[in-house]
Amino acid sequence: MLRFATTTLAMIQDIERILFHEQTILRRLDELGAQITRDYEGKELTIIAVLNGSIFFMADLLRRIQLPLRLDCLSVSSYHGGTASTGVVTFEQNSLPEVDGRHVLLLDDILDTGHTLHAICRRLHQEANPASVRVCVLLRKDKVRAKNLEADYVGFDIGDEFVVGYGLDYLEKYRNLPFVGVLHPAVIKA
Ligand code: IMP
Ligand code: MG
Repeated sequence: MLRFATTTLAMIQDIERILFHEQTILRRLDELGAQITRDYEGKELTIIAVLNGSIFFMADLLRRIQLPLRLDCLSVSSYHGGTASTGVVTFEQNSLPEVDGRHVLLLDDILDTGHTLHAICRRLHQEANPASVRVCVLLRKDKVRAKNLEADYVGFDIGDEFVVGYGLDYLEKYRNLPFVGVLHPAVIKA
């Protein structure tokens, strides 16, 4: 029986529907980790995690990939506050990870419009000379994407709804909920 403090309960009340409990997520990560381990066996793998949203996903998935690998993080934002991508992708640091000749697996929490991952892939190819770049997301929204970008590894497909928890935020809140849930529309500021 899970027990939550009053402050956590207040956050949970903002959730309309739970989509994936922690155990469901971890079981799916067992499968993804095994698949990535098979696919990259014998290759020079660098994981690049997109912060902050992918932080829980990264920690849980990486412990399930049984290969020597390098880990780098990139801070990128495209939201600037609301629940819709502005389409303007800002890199918080100017330099890219050193991935010359290496196989790159990009990790992000969610594939929505595709702007963020498209911008990162483009910069990597233009400036960093990787051997390959693939994309792995925990969640993929069912929608027509602004950018022609597809994920190679997907945890779960979801509808076009705004979700929080397990790393995903709304105005920097809810990241530490242990599940992924749909945020109640009434909570979202007009
Ligand atoms: P994209 O560039 O539109 O694909 O959006 C990517 C980023 O937007 C993700 O890395 C998330 O940080 C954020 N995002 C997109 N959809 C959601 C959502 O439903 N909840 C929380 N963050 C989201
Ligand atoms: Mg975010």
